[in-house]
Amino acid sequence: MAELMRLDRFISSQVGNLSRKDVKELCKKNLITVNGIPAKRSDDKVNPKLDIISVKGNEISYNKYIYIMLNKPQGYVCSTRDGLSPTVLSLLPKELQRKGLFPAGRLDKDTEGFVLITDDGELSHKMLSPKNHVPKKYYVELEKPIGNDYIKIFSSGMEIDNGDICKPSELIPISNNPNSCYVILHQGMYHQVKRMFETLGNKVVFLKRISIGGLSLDENLALGEWLVLLHKDVERILLI
Ligand code: URA
Repeated sequence: MAELMRLDRFISSQVGNLSRKDVKELCKKNLITVNGIPAKRSDDKVNPKLDIISVKGNEISYNKYIYIMLNKPQGYVCSTRDGLSPTVLSLLPKELQRKGLFPAGRLDKDTEGFVLITDDGELSHKMLSPKNHVPKKYYVELEKPIGNDYIKIFSSGMEIDNGDICKPSELIPISNNPNSCYVILHQGMYHQVKRMFETLGNKVVFLKRISIGGLSLDENLALGEWLVLLHKDVERILLI
């Protein structure tokens, strides 16, 4: 983060539900202070590392890293560079854009759901490292009903198309719909859920990631919406 930045940009990058317009309004009502003095203009420059900035009397602490929960829609790629398709980063507003931001882990272009976007390489490494077995839960819709043997095959660690053996995973049927289920994986091979069902002669027609470790996708987030996570939420990713 730059040493000096606009007050409205700093606040909306740290407090997920305040837009720059909201900050402007709060400034007009003298509800934002910088070092105890009400800020007159929302485009004033501040140094987030040194200045004490408060909103309605609550101090906004400076966080080194940012963590964003995104409900990814179909049609977006989990990449930092624009190619033929727009990236998940393009869904974020300007005030959340910053150098070094990347999606931690990939979902396919046609998969929806929870993507963590951050600039914290260490957290991302811990989350994705096979050593840590951070479970990822998916909601799956299939072309054909789930076979009686699927649960056992998933839990015993099945072989897929190229001869790779998947780690044991969980398949949880959904009682009122034989064509849908939840799947919990402890690893992230390329197109893994789709390939596992393909091996069984079935086809995934809809896929959505609904949790990573101990943190679930917020049900109030519509497709394409995002939420800045608090530190205690981020910790839940690794607490399983
Ligand atoms: N498995 C898949 O097949 N696709 C995804 O996007 C994630 C897991």
